[in-house]
Amino acid sequence: MSGLRETLSIVRDAAAGLLRWRTSAGASPLLGGRFPKAALVPIRGLRPRHRAAVLAHLLELSPADRYMRFGYAAQDAQIERYAQSLDFDRDQVYGVFNRRLRLIAIAHLAYAQDPKADRCAEFGVSVLPAYRGKGLGAKLFARAQLHAQNDRISLLFIHALSENSAMLKIARKAGATVERFGSESDAYLQLPRPTLHSQWSEAVDTQIADTDYRLKVQAHHFWGLLAGFQQVRQGLRPGQGKPTP
Ligand SMILES: CC(C)(COP(=O)(O)OP(=O)(O)OC[C@H]1O[C@@H](n2cnc3c(N)ncnc32)[C@H](O)[C@@H]1OP(=O)(O)O)[C@@H](O)C(=O)NCCC(=O)NCCS
Repeated sequence: MSGLRETLSIVRDAAAGLLRWRTSAGASPLLGGRFPKAALVPIRGLRPRHRAAVLAHLLELSPADRYMRFGYAAQDAQIERYAQSLDFDRDQVYGVFNRRLRLIAIAHLAYAQDPKADRCAEFGVSVLPAYRGKGLGAKLFARAQLHAQNDRISLLFIHALSENSAMLKIARKAGATVERFGSESDAYLQLPRPTLHSQWSEAVDTQIADTDYRLKVQAHHFWGLLAGFQQVRQGLRPGQGKPTP
């Protein structure tokens, strides 16, 4: 009976999320609009083929943001090494794409490599400045937290500069304990064991993100095709066969 109640509550949550997603008219991430805080944001698990996009995103960060993200003044070469070393099989890397398939936010859930700490993972995140303050950082944290819980991670760790109010607020709101050591702070979040609800929630999130991404890829190709026809019509490049009028 409690299993049925849990399943019903998952379906209700998913339906409410989809409704919010669809009814935030003109603001749907699917349509590529702005992200109202309450909207469901499709967060996609990234694969090695996204490595170049991850690098491009990180290289866009200003020196101050790089300092906040990595805890030191990361130079281009160091960011390149970081992007090259990302292990998409062991870790989880999440991204939010806009309608032009630009990666506007990334989160890295890095699993501890020390076998004595194999139930621990570290969270790192970056959101492009134009998209901040819309809840993306918090949503990426929630997504990583859900996966970590389902993967039986028991302790989630965040290292941040003490001046990083936004990151520390996200961690505190999720229930993390924050310890300050002068200019740096560590946040720890104990995770519960996986439940039917957490597993279903992750499956629903993954489906929505995959569908959203596929539609954006199709739309991207479609607009590329239209632009190509336009160029042929305007005589900017030779046509290979006549486009239909
Ligand atoms: C930290 C960062 C990821 C936050 O992303 P974001 O999408 O703007 O975060 P959110 O919109 O989810 O905001 C989270 C909370 O912080 C608050 N916040 C956002 N920017 C803030 C700021 N500059 N100062 C204080 N609070 C801030 C928000 O109001 C929100 O609080 P609320 O839930 O009570 O409204 C983003 O600023 C960033 O990419 N910074 C550079 C890299 C970095 O610092 N990474 C973190 C270390 S790993």
